[in-house]
Amino acid sequence: MCGIVGYIGHRDAYPIIIKGLQRLEYRGYDSAGVAIYDGKGINLAKTKGKVEDLKKKSKETISVEGNLGIGHTRWATHGVPNDVNSHPHYSNSGDLVIIHNGIIENYESIKKELIKRGYTFHSDTDTEVLVNLIEEVQKTENVKLGKAVQIALNQVVGAYAIAVFDKKKPDELVVAKLGSPLAIGVGENEFFIASDASPFIEFTNNAIYLEDEEMAIVRLGKEIKLRKIKDDSVAYPNILELQMNIEEIEKGGYDHFMLKEIYEQPRAIKDTYRGRLRADLGVIKMAGIDDHLDKFLNANRIIIVACGTSWHAGLVAEYIFEDLARIPVEVEYASEFRYRNPVIHKDDVIIAISQSGETADTLAAIKLAKENGAFVFGVCNVVGSSISRETHAGAYTHAGPEIGVASTKAFTTQITVLTLIALKLAKEKGKINDSEFAEYLEELESVPGKVEKALESNPLIEIISEVYKDSTNCLYLGRGYNFPVALEGALKLKEISYIHAEGYPAAEMKHGPIALIDEQMPVFVIATKKGHYEKVVSNIQEIKSRKGKIIAIVTEGDVQVKELADHVIEVPETFESLTPLLTTIPLQLLSYHIAVMRECNVDQPRNLAKSVTVE
Ligand code: AGP
Repeated sequence: MCGIVGYIGHRDAYPIIIKGLQRLEYRGYDSAGVAIYDGKGINLAKTKGKVEDLKKKSKETISVEGNLGIGHTRWATHGVPNDVNSHPHYSNSGDLVIIHNGIIENYESIKKELIKRGYTFHSDTDTEVLVNLIEEVQKTENVKLGKAVQIALNQVVGAYAIAVFDKKKPDELVVAKLGSPLAIGVGENEFFIASDASPFIEFTNNAIYLEDEEMAIVRLGKEIKLRKIKDDSVAYPNILELQMNIEEIEKGGYDHFMLKEIYEQPRAIKDTYRGRLRADLGVIKMAGIDDHLDKFLNANRIIIVACGTSWHAGLVAEYIFEDLARIPVEVEYASEFRYRNPVIHKDDVIIAISQSGETADTLAAIKLAKENGAFVFGVCNVVGSSISRETHAGAYTHAGPEIGVASTKAFTTQITVLTLIALKLAKEKGKINDSEFAEYLEELESVPGKVEKALESNPLIEIISEVYKDSTNCLYLGRGYNFPVALEGALKLKEISYIHAEGYPAAEMKHGPIALIDEQMPVFVIATKKGHYEKVVSNIQEIKSRKGKIIAIVTEGDVQVKELADHVIEVPETFESLTPLLTTIPLQLLSYHIAVMRECNVDQPRNLAKSVTVE
């Protein structure tokens, strides 16, 4: 869960690397480092802290001129975040320098062996072990850097995206990948290396995404050579033309990426169904489903695997698949599923949901399901990501880059894709008739406009946030389709404002959490008109009689809840199954404002990273 950047070409490497690292800080931000070759030697600076701190330190301590360099922004796995454990790492001779995203699991045994051979280590990292192993292979086998990397990687167990160069051969960079993402931007006699395409998108749209167990020798003036790490056989580069543009990865006038991404949701939801939903023709077209329709129609059950917010989207999908298409659904945390010896049948369909497409536990759950013969379908946002490649088929959410660590538009677009699938299957299975189907499509098309309307409550939400910003605990309650929204609301608040929050099905209150309620406890209740409204109203009364503070998300024009609640936030009316797309909006805004008021780092909350590529 780190970000890596490299450059070799005719431009100054340093500014490209620093800007690239800033764009990758969503992947980790506890320390950062850079190494630049200046024509004579390597200049290396690294520090605990953010890329901004690295910028200061490198300008003060090293020469930053040179056309070859690598940089790293870290989310610590081995060794605490400090200057020494930051990347890049030198080999003992000082000739090689490496950056690494991933974990070398057997590093301790390799380290012991290297120590016996006279190597010394300065950091606690697995990465320093790897660069010295490469150096040892180079020496003992008398091979070039590329071959040494290949031999060394065959001795390690774990995951990696690495970039390494040798100051004795400064016209080449060697990169390799297993389990962590690595993209190569291909320019005019210049190459960019990065964890995703954002660091190089303003220089080139041409990118190669390395597959697992592939490596590349990137050499100036030469074509890129791709090799399989296992047997050194040649692999052929597939150069993709990227659609991403620079505006998508900048804040565009907003104070934070999270706020920008919240406001992008009307557009993002539209992009998700664009070209798929044809209300005029009464059809939903999704290639990933159309090509494998029999798998879905004959499915014994659907098992959804995901983590975090994506898991919450999976819970919403459980309601809609069972409700509309009458297919049994189980929703599993990928991290539990992969280790609990689950029963998987050949006629189970697995849906893996992931914004990043890189979440290690979700990837492992997919591999397990495939080994058991199940058909695996991916719902991802990042095009070309590991999960999108590992699954048999899939559907992209088309939300555009999500950079804020807290997922917002990923959630609503995942629900949109899953709703399209559920509707399509319901229609194919004859569970809804043509006119119901047509009404659904029409309503779905009205959702972006309704999200716009929900966003208009922002000034009111800011005022409410001011009232509750100093709370130490919060409860979030919802029923039916809005129970997962309560979970998601609580997750948003805890991850960016560090306030303890719990989401519950409203009716579960009586079974324990009600004991927590007193005049200090804000309770956020989703109480939209459809979906057990009267029952939720009773739950609100129970809270009120125990003096809890009630902030209710209600349907426009509601009067009953207004009389009971301390604050109400209205959202437009829609079909019950589509309410999560609206009710989640005020909860996102609320957690955003509270975090800003508490002076928290909204886009880069402590201890977190955007893609969790370690288990
Ligand atoms: C949510 O705000 C978090 N960033 C986190 O829970 C996230 O949803 C989870 O790590 C899964 O990520 P993925 O969708 O990229 O697989």
